[in-house]
Amino acid sequence: MSQIFDLVLGVESSCDEMAAAVLRIGHAAPGGPGAVCAGYEIVASVVHGQAEVHGPYGGVVPELASRDHIRSVSDVVARALAEAGIAPEQLDGVAVTVGPGLVGSLLVGMSFGKALAYRLGLPLVGVHHLAGHLASVELAEPLERPYIGLLISGGHTALYRIEVTGPPVLLGETRDDAVGEAFDKVAKRLGLPYPGGPSLSLAAESGRRDAVDFPRPMANRGGLDFSFSGLKTAVALEIERRGALSATEVADLAASFEAAAIDVLVGRACRALRGEGLRCIAVVGGVAANRHLREELARAGEADGFAVHFPPLDLCTDNAAMIAAAGGALLARGERHGLALNAFSRVAIDAAPWADPAGT
Ligand code: KG4
Ligand code: ZN
Repeated sequence: MSQIFDLVLGVESSCDEMAAAVLRIGHAAPGGPGAVCAGYEIVASVVHGQAEVHGPYGGVVPELASRDHIRSVSDVVARALAEAGIAPEQLDGVAVTVGPGLVGSLLVGMSFGKALAYRLGLPLVGVHHLAGHLASVELAEPLERPYIGLLISGGHTALYRIEVTGPPVLLGETRDDAVGEAFDKVAKRLGLPYPGGPSLSLAAESGRRDAVDFPRPMANRGGLDFSFSGLKTAVALEIERRGALSATEVADLAASFEAAAIDVLVGRACRALRGEGLRCIAVVGGVAANRHLREELARAGEADGFAVHFPPLDLCTDNAAMIAAAGGALLARGERHGLALNAFSRVAIDAAPWADPAGT
């Protein structure tokens, strides 16, 4: 029988957020890297962002991100433990993000987690960042598998089939930019403040969604892959053509870009559900916080007869509760990763090179 792990500390530092969370886990279900346990309580979750560090540059500066992580990591973990009201000795396991992400950033959270696990004699597991995002939705509500997972973040855009057991199966992914990256870059071109995604969607609230008919890349092609670089370029050319933009034009361009990006996401989501014969989709990652996307997908679900699930807003963007959730499932299955655990800038969701002692 699987071992029950009660309190798991998650540490996440794959990009520009340093996060730590303490998760109480009910019982474990067997499954792959994307699998989660049933019955969670987020006892504490702390996220330290770096908007003031990267804001002046309009995007994440990797070197500055890892330096800020070094400054914040011990405080963030201590705050999570204090909020949870527990001593480190009460933990049952530690889960750290191993990738994909910025290696310098990943190493900070991972090294801290390793040191803590070593000091306390606790089991340690490395968690794939995207498996963490996929676990975020089941933190709030258990879903009946199989279902479709749409992962939309700053670094990734992909559709998965979430199996009853075993790792998520990749159905399609972006061939160029991630959708969050397109939001961020278009926001920067429109002169909107960093971080771009939330400020673009805020600007879009007062804009006309049909002001400019931007392309819906690959909409008429079969398959489940995405492409966002053509859309991003089309917006850039339109901005260049117009020269100085009024506030109304900024709002219109933001709304028209957002409408095109959402159309593509909703179209692919519906196609994946039909193709797999499934009636449930979970949408995770930072862009899942987008209000219009939530509305459009809910509308499509009502029309086509499928259920749409989103994590709560604070679990869409990077956080450590999702890492503790995915890590808790690994721990419960008996997985252990040693102190030779390494960070990976790119790694497939169904590969776990860190789980192979010969490979670490
Ligand atoms: O999941 P996440 O925190 O980090 C990655 O793993 O990439 O996602 C961050 C991405 C950024 O590109 C950000 O601009 C985007 O999510 N984002 C949004 C919104 N909130 C965050 N994009 C559109 N609308 C939003 N409301
Ligand atoms: Zn993420």
